[in-house]
Amino acid sequence: MNLAIIESVSGPVVRARPEGSFVMREAVRVGEKGLLGEVIRIKESEIVIQVYEDTTGIRPGTRIEGDGLPLSIHLGPGILGGTFDGLLRPIADISINGPWVEPGSVTSKSAHYYFIPQVVAGSSLQAGAILGRVKPKDGHEQRILVPPGISGVVEELVAEGEYRDDVPLCMLIDEDGTRHPVTMCHTWPVRRPRPTAARLPSDEPMLTGQRIIDCMFPIARGGKAAIPGGFGTGKTVLLETLAKWCNADVIVYVGCGERGNELAGLLEEFYQLEDPHTGHSLLKRTVIIANTSNMPVAAREASIYTGVTVAEYFRDQGLDVALMADSTSRWAEALREVSGLLGELPGEGGYPAYMSSRLADFYERAAKVRTLAGETGSVTIIGAVSPPSGDFSEPVTSHSRRYIRSFWALDANRAYARFYPAIHPLHSYSTDEERMANWWHAEGNVHWQELRTRFLTLLEEQAHLERMARIIGKDAMPAHQRYILMCAELLNEGFLRQSAFSEIDRSASPDRQAVMMRIIGEFIEQAERVVSNGVPPELISRLPVFRRLMRMSEEIPDGEWETFSELADTLNKSMVELADSGQPMEDS
Ligand SMILES: Nc1ncnc2c1ncn2[C@@H]1O[C@H](COP(=O)(O)OP(=O)(O)O)[C@@H](O)[C@H]1O
Ligand SMILES: [Mg+2]
Repeated sequence: MNLAIIESVSGPVVRARPEGSFVMREAVRVGEKGLLGEVIRIKESEIVIQVYEDTTGIRPGTRIEGDGLPLSIHLGPGILGGTFDGLLRPIADISINGPWVEPGSVTSKSAHYYFIPQVVAGSSLQAGAILGRVKPKDGHEQRILVPPGISGVVEELVAEGEYRDDVPLCMLIDEDGTRHPVTMCHTWPVRRPRPTAARLPSDEPMLTGQRIIDCMFPIARGGKAAIPGGFGTGKTVLLETLAKWCNADVIVYVGCGERGNELAGLLEEFYQLEDPHTGHSLLKRTVIIANTSNMPVAAREASIYTGVTVAEYFRDQGLDVALMADSTSRWAEALREVSGLLGELPGEGGYPAYMSSRLADFYERAAKVRTLAGETGSVTIIGAVSPPSGDFSEPVTSHSRRYIRSFWALDANRAYARFYPAIHPLHSYSTDEERMANWWHAEGNVHWQELRTRFLTLLEEQAHLERMARIIGKDAMPAHQRYILMCAELLNEGFLRQSAFSEIDRSASPDRQAVMMRIIGEFIEQAERVVSNGVPPELISRLPVFRRLMRMSEEIPDGEWETFSELADTLNKSMVELADSGQPMEDS
């Protein structure tokens, strides 16, 4: 046990005189309440501690204790479906008095689970191997793993039945004859990535149900995305929509420095919504980590590592996990605040120079992997960024760009026009597009990439033509240009726009997305032919079928394939009729 005596306190930063040999990043307990902290700097006669809880009442002379171990969290079956603070301590009630955690408290109370062993005594188990599974009363089945770092031969294995999560299920006898008790829980240091057998290529998309993401700027399983956007552009609504409808098995939602009432709302909503994949409440597949704006600032820094460690824990059980962080900017601000108290030299935007590498440490942990047990699992990370006054050249946005693969730029003008999701198609990108195209192709949507490229070209042309239209007026533009504006309008309104609050459209299956893509592609092709035969585009946009296309996202639900094919037939017929009707020719 290491001991130190506090010499000064300034907010979350505490300086103390050590009477033992502390190590960097050692977890410590401060004062009688045992507030949690971490050693962040060591000098000859002084250590500096970052305290993760409110330091009011902590004075010089107070004792600090450490045991040489890094800041760790307690992982086990009780986590899924729970709400925790940045150090994975359960939050009793987030809605009434704001998030409240007993100062100095450690982990969840122990609970009972029904354990079903999957190995027999005498088996030789490697680290990360599956020992058995538990089935909580109304939640998802989970696996119990041999913790990373230990291996050996199973002895004294319990029979199937109900056990407390802190009693040994078996002993593992390692090569040296050392006996390691294995319980349902184990601890893991938050800043250390959990080991895997291999990193696998990200070759399939994580489907989000959002067309502008899945079809235009896809994210891979094991991928990483940033959502930068100014205030009110829809970052939180988008993250929540993704958390609800993406096809991950487990969601880890880190509320980092944002308002507490938003998280309370999320909790309420998730409780009521049904998981389309399992029929349970959505909350049962979710872990919420709350470090809202009214909670101690220093713990915010730890919260995203806690979040990603929890995500890796479920990944190691062979699951696909999605982690959402709202927002990485508030996290970076916490770094800046603590750095200022430490008297460090400020870098770009006042952020400490290590902000970028800390962001990298976080995003690096997104991956699709082969687990130690030989299964496939993934962690996909999506981080919101809130650049001050929506300026994407500021440090948190620009450094995030270096580490992510999908960039969903929210646009204030789109949001202002209530065009949601306000992802700007010309400012966003995905470097995984090529590989995701292979997946869509293998699923039978062979024109996915071609259509995607066609759509993007149209949107680029639209941006260019709209500038011109503002100057010379739309009516003065040649027919082909008016045709492009018409197609782009359909693409935006009928495809990219998708309300998070529409029962029919809040989430679109890949099949529905593919059908809609094809119909719009059909329209673009046929309309081009008709227009080049001299029919003015306005005659097309006045057709009843055009209005039906514009509204198909709101009107034709998933599974109504007949309605879609009837619509496609009507489109064909209407275009043929129009071409045959001998409309007045127009110079183009
Ligand atoms: N996808 C969406 N569909 C419908 N409305 C949305 C959508 N995204 C945002 N909004 C509207 O915009 C408001 C602000 O969104 P929010 O996510 O809170 O912004 P931010 O987190 O970027 O500050 C929401 O309260 C909602 O009314
Ligand atoms: Mg928000």
